[in-house]
Amino acid sequence: MKRLVILSGAGMSAESGIRTFRDMNGLWEEYDVMEVASIEAWYKNPELLLHFYNDRRKQMIESKPNQGHLLLAELEKNFDVQIITQNVDDLHERAGSTHVLHLHGELTKARSTLDPSLIYLLDNPEMKMGDKCEKGSQLRPHIVWFGEEVPAMTEAIPIVESADYICVIGTSLNVYPAAGLINYAPANAPLYLIDPNPPASLPRKVEVIAKGAGEGVVELIHRLAERQK
Ligand code: APR
Repeated sequence: MKRLVILSGAGMSAESGIRTFRDMNGLWEEYDVMEVASIEAWYKNPELLLHFYNDRRKQMIESKPNQGHLLLAELEKNFDVQIITQNVDDLHERAGSTHVLHLHGELTKARSTLDPSLIYLLDNPEMKMGDKCEKGSQLRPHIVWFGEEVPAMTEAIPIVESADYICVIGTSLNVYPAAGLINYAPANAPLYLIDPNPPASLPRKVEVIAKGAGEGVVELIHRLAERQK
């Protein structure tokens, strides 16, 4: 089976009712990102961050996968689909995708502040000060904050390098190192991009599908079928 690598961002979940960051009415219009999503903010005011991510976790639980998520899961019948997402929601998994790599962490998990290898699936969506890991240290959201490394890049790069086809869906390509992943695409791998407002500067020849994720994936499936004739 040909390998289809999907690089998804917040726009992938927009049609599920989850806000993006940099669109009109995006999260970073309402919050100062450095106050709620940086390691400095965690040291300064951990309760605020626990509250911010509790809200986002609640919204995720109330959302459901959209047509785009569901069609990508369906595509596993015809392709080796590898999803590399900047999103911290679990909508790709809930849609049925089986290979999902989260570059920026996962809302469904908490992590020890003493030992980062201690990661726990949250059974209670409300995290609070005093929630401790087995070694007695405070738990934090298992999210990559600004100012922190993105360890999953080590796993993501070879996946992109091994792609037969690549499709970027719903990311403004603003945040590195995630945005730099498309530079690892093999030169002969067709690159598609699904976004109603595609980013202005695109690094290489891209087939733009200027639609939302739901309709855009329908178009992607059509174009992949045409190419495989
Ligand atoms: N379908 C597809 N794309 C959409 C849709 C939609 N229905 N609605 C909006 N978009 C597009 C926007 O045009 C934009 O290009 O999704 C993109 C969202 O961009 P951002 O809000 O910047 O989200 P993202 O690129 O995922 O942000 C990257 O920034 O704050 C950090 O860690 C956070 O992972 C996040 C990272």
